Amino acid sequence: MRGSFPVEQFKTWSTPFYYYDLELLEHTLSRALMSVSDVSFLIHYALKANAHAQILSRVSRANLGADCVSGNEILAALAAGIAPARILFAGVGKADWEIELALQHDIACFNVESIPEIQVIGEIAARAGKTARIALRVNPNVNAHTHHYITTGLTENKFGIPLSALSAAIDTSLHYPHLSLEGIHAHIGSQIVEFSPFKDLCRVLNDLQDSMAACGIYLKHINVGGGLGINYEHPNHHPVADFEAYFRIFREHLHLREGQKLHFELGRSLVAACGTLITKVLYVKEGEQKTFAIVDAAMTDLLRPALYQAYHRIENITSVSTEARVYDVVGPVCESSDLFARDFPLATTCRGDLLALRSTGAYGEAMASGYNLRALPTSHTSEEIFHHK
Ligand code: LLP
Repeated sequence: MRGSFPVEQFKTWSTPFYYYDLELLEHTLSRALMSVSDVSFLIHYALKANAHAQILSRVSRANLGADCVSGNEILAALAAGIAPARILFAGVGKADWEIELALQHDIACFNVESIPEIQVIGEIAARAGKTARIALRVNPNVNAHTHHYITTGLTENKFGIPLSALSAAIDTSLHYPHLSLEGIHAHIGSQIVEFSPFKDLCRVLNDLQDSMAACGIYLKHINVGGGLGINYEHPNHHPVADFEAYFRIFREHLHLREGQKLHFELGRSLVAACGTLITKVLYVKEGEQKTFAIVDAAMTDLLRPALYQAYHRIENITSVSTEARVYDVVGPVCESSDLFARDFPLATTCRGDLLALRSTGAYGEAMASGYNLRALPTSHTSEEIFHHK
């Protein structure tokens, strides 16, 4: 089954471009919010997945918070109207100016990742005469069973404070008068579709809470990061992630204390499905063993297949042929890894056809680069079409 796209409109736009279906985005956001009916559960959108202004404005209108990993992401969240009280600042290497900016806007919380970082934030907050609310990001050593490049919660990963250093990190936090220790945070990885690692995470966090409570430390919130995966194989049949099952895991396995909030930082599951990369076929080249569909989008527009061998479903949305053939779908960049798919079945494809690379709303446009002096990809939204009608 093919996705249904406004193909006639697409033919008038120059390729390659990202197309965002804002109705699907809104539907996804409302499904996520419906599944998270508990008032103590708060969703923060991870801007790193896609910081397109129209996406941020929908996220802001839906009343989600923001999970930011740079000063510029904080500025983008604020510009979209997200309240500072709903903005978190995460990241393993926050620069001084970014810490100052976050303090100046009085954001909700810093997720801190090391003892030296706690010290620096404590000093900068004192100089600024502000209080920095912090959550300690722990490395829970839970295997998320996802691609090793997007696994973050193992002791071999650079993220978080090792459990063995946690009590030193707590002592350091309590030592600085301008720091307020409010939570603990953990993020085990991304594109997680098998949920048992989330249960393992709950167990680790329950134990941590118990031992912190025994030392008289009460936390205002727990943050379990993001990571909920989507179905890349069947975007038409499963356009919305399984939010129900995901939130249920935490409802059933995490022991929240009275009045405590549970924070989520979801990126991919909120925006991946609404984005599609549209590219034009430049040449069909017959190799000795393969047929190559050479397209005008490249790894510079969508890095995921080259970097993680990620699968994105591809559809020829203009071919009228009823026959299918297999193609290696490749871009123009001078790298063998500039390849979107190997031996992929497509309706018989010719120069000028448009291909849709599905589920590219998360970590697609956001990871684009200018390698080979290529232009950054442009984007269009469903709203433009409705406005022109
Ligand atoms: N919180 C933290 C601390 C994170 O590091 C991430 C993602 C998220 C939340 C959001 O995770 P999500 O819900 O999107 O899984 N570029 C890779 C994914 C990198 C994820 C980085 N961290 C990809 O294209 O698959």
